[in-house]
Amino acid sequence: MAGFNETCRVLEHVDAAPGYRFLVLAAPKIAAAVTAGQFVHVRVPGLEKTALRRPFSVFDGGDGKLTLLYKIVGRGTEALKAAPVGCEIEVLGPLGYGFPSTCDGVPLLVGGGFGVAPLHFLAKTLLANAKPDAPKPILFVGGRTAGDLLALDRFRALGVEVRVATNDGSAGVKGFVVDPLDDELAALREKGETFELFTCGPDGLLHAVAMRATGTGMKGWISMDRHMICGVGACFACIQKIKGADGNVFNARCCVNGPVFKAEDIVW
Ligand SMILES: Cc1cc2nc3c(=O)[nH]c(=O)nc-3n(C[C@H](O)[C@H](O)[C@H](O)COP(=O)(O)OP(=O)(O)OC[C@H]3O[C@@H](n4cnc5c(N)ncnc54)[C@H](O)[C@@H]3O)c2cc1C
Ligand code: FES
Repeated sequence: MAGFNETCRVLEHVDAAPGYRFLVLAAPKIAAAVTAGQFVHVRVPGLEKTALRRPFSVFDGGDGKLTLLYKIVGRGTEALKAAPVGCEIEVLGPLGYGFPSTCDGVPLLVGGGFGVAPLHFLAKTLLANAKPDAPKPILFVGGRTAGDLLALDRFRALGVEVRVATNDGSAGVKGFVVDPLDDELAALREKGETFELFTCGPDGLLHAVAMRATGTGMKGWISMDRHMICGVGACFACIQKIKGADGNVFNARCCVNGPVFKAEDIVW
C-alpha cells in the first residue's frame, strides 16, 4: 500500500504519561484511508536531512485527524516531542495491512506498552461495525508497574472493559497480562463461546498470545513490531518468517506484508 505523503499540521501535542506523548495531526487524506493496525512513517521536524522517518501505529483516525501515542526512546522521538502546535510534519501513510474490521465472537485485545496504540483504533472500529447484541471488546493490558499503563481512560470511554495486570501489583492483579487472559479463555471455553485474539506489544507477549490462538483453534491477529528503515518494502530490514498460502515459508516484510499477520502463519 503506497499511502499518501501528506504535510500535516500539529493540532495537539500533550503528555500521555511520563515519557509518552499524544500527537494529534490534521491529515485529511491519510485519516480518510487509514484502518486499524496500519502505520504511518513520520519525518521528524528538525531531523529531515539527517534521520530516516520513524514508524508509528495509529491510535485514532477519522474526522480528518490522526492521533499517535508514542514513547520517547531515542534521537527521533526526543526531537519529535518538541514539535509545537501549528508546525508541519511530513507523514507517509497509511502503510501496511492492519487488523480485520469485524470480529467473530468476543474480541480479546491484548497489549503491552505502546502496543495499546493500534488496539485503541481497533476497539473503536470493531464497536462501530458490531451488531447491537455483539459482545464488546475486552482489553487485557500489562506492565511492570501502574505507570506503564497507557490511555486506559480512552479505552473505557469507548465502552471497552479493561483488565489490568502489573508485575508489582500496583494496579490490577499482580502478575502477567496472560494471567487474567487465561482466566477469561477458560471461562469462554466453558461456555463454548467463540473469540478472536488481537495483540500488539513486546515479542514475548505476541508469542504467548499467538500460542493461545493456535492452541485453542481460534483466530489470532498479531501486530509485529520490527525495526524499519524504508517502510515501503525496499530495504528488507523488517523481515519475519511467515508461512505463505502455499505452505512454504518466506521472508515477509512487516512493512508491506504486515505488520499484522495471522497467528498460525508466524514462524517463531
Ligand atoms: C509498525 C510499527 C509501529 C510502531 N508503533 C509505535 C507506536 O505506536 N508508538 C511508539 O512509541 N512506537 C512505535 N513504534 C516504534 C517506534 O518506531 C520506535 O520507537 C522509534 O522509531 C524510535 O525512534 P528513535 O529515533 O526515538 O529511537 P532510536 O534512536 O532509533 O532507538 C532508540 C531505542 O529504541 C529502540 N527501537 C527503535 N525502533 C524500535 C522498534 N521498531 N521497536 C522497538 N524498539 C525500537 C532501539 O533499539 C533503541 O534501543 C512502532 C514501530 C513499528 C515498526
Ligand atoms: S522497512 Fe524496508 S522493507 Fe520493510
